[in-house]
Amino acid sequence: MPIVSIIGPKGGIGKTTISLNTAAALTQSLKTSASDRRVCLIDLDLRLPTISSLLDSHPNKTFYDLFETLANRTYQVDFLRTIYHISTWFKGYLEGSVPARDEKLVRCLAWYKNLNADLFRFADFRFGDQVHELFLHRGKIHSPEDLKILVPVLDALDLRKFKEELKSREDNAWPVAEEFIKYIEEYGFSILGGEIPILGKKNHRKRINEPEFLLLFLEVLNGVFRKFDYVILDTPAGGVNHLSSLMNCIDHVLFVFDLSNNIAVNGSVDAIHSFIDYYEDLYDDFVSGKLTGLDKAYVNRLVAEKGERAVRESLENKKFSLVFNRCQEEREITGGLNQLREYLDTLDKLEKYKDRIHIAGLVPHHKVINIANNRGALFYNKDGSLTERMDQVAANIVDNNARCPSLAAGNRAVLDYLRKQGWMGFAKKLHRVASSLT
Ligand SMILES: Nc1ncnc2c1ncn2[C@@H]1O[C@H](COP(=O)(O)OP(=O)(O)OP(=O)(O)O)[C@@H](O)[C@H]1O
Ligand SMILES: [Mg+2]
Repeated sequence: MPIVSIIGPKGGIGKTTISLNTAAALTQSLKTSASDRRVCLIDLDLRLPTISSLLDSHPNKTFYDLFETLANRTYQVDFLRTIYHISTWFKGYLEGSVPARDEKLVRCLAWYKNLNADLFRFADFRFGDQVHELFLHRGKIHSPEDLKILVPVLDALDLRKFKEELKSREDNAWPVAEEFIKYIEEYGFSILGGEIPILGKKNHRKRINEPEFLLLFLEVLNGVFRKFDYVILDTPAGGVNHLSSLMNCIDHVLFVFDLSNNIAVNGSVDAIHSFIDYYEDLYDDFVSGKLTGLDKAYVNRLVAEKGERAVRESLENKKFSLVFNRCQEEREITGGLNQLREYLDTLDKLEKYKDRIHIAGLVPHHKVINIANNRGALFYNKDGSLTERMDQVAANIVDNNARCPSLAAGNRAVLDYLRKQGWMGFAKKLHRVASSLT
């Protein structure tokens, strides 16, 4: 399940356009297999999801529902965990094994007094009545001595069974990935993501800063990754800061290099350098065991699943490629390449990356591509020359950049390659010639 992430420096440079059409081209290139659910396009733009409306295909459940489900789950499970903790210390005190001044007991008392039980669904829980009763006495309890009032309630609470219940909730309250994945018959690939901007909701904006919550979200995504042969991630402008840990498991990073004008070229060059910086830091921290927060938690999960070596190798072997977008003249390509090489050279990065960064394709500036009326967004199989351009990009994803030139190649080699429109376009033409002869 190679995971391809389409990234770029800023808004409106064609990330979504290229994501959609790469998904379509990859689907086409994998058509020989019996399975038709091989490619999934994931809209990671949590603030302004666009893919479902561009394709006019609306998943039954979106990331908005997923966030609600996960928030609910974390809330309910967190709440139960806290109650378990509180009850254990209260019981300990009442049975005489915990002194009144015990620091943890004092903390539990404070939690008990301040816990917000409004969102907890007592009725859904086996010990809901007892927990509810526990809260009814809150007003009467001010110090450990007052806890005596709780003896009958706590006696009725079997903490061993409570723990079992908590454990089964932790294990089972998991969203079913299939409910969120939408297979689009017409295009032959699946989509996952939003319709509603989930970051519009305050609770969700807060959640996005909670590593524990994001980890759950990443786990759901990982479950989805495993179901597909290829996963394409469409990212928002500015990248996916809150989900940067995802970079650990991405196999192929595809930069959209915007050739519209000088500013766009500067931005693209700088974005590639920033990404390299980010990638190197992540790798160094991983190797030296210095990852923190979500990065650390996520990598630990990956290591538990695949082993340390596999995770390190996947980081080391990450593939990088460029797709030029909005190209009008060939000299823009050579100009962009020269500028990128010079910039990397100034930063002493050229030697290290010139063989690693590949040129995977190009999309011309084209009037057919028009997201304004939605219809042009997915141009694959609608416009012949653009389709071949995308076949070239897909072919490079499939063969891991084995045939496309890298930055180390001269500009001539790159132009020759891009003119060929890739071996798939070439093979198709041959096929057409062959069929016209028979
Ligand atoms: N090669 C191209 N030729 C003509 N128009 C293009 C081309 N590539 C993209 N566009 C147009 O540019 C606009 C922005 O494209 P797109 O939405 O794919 O960018 P994006 O990088 O995903 O933006 P955002 O960061 O907001 O998600 C759209 O209207 C799209 O149709
Ligand atoms: Mg976009």
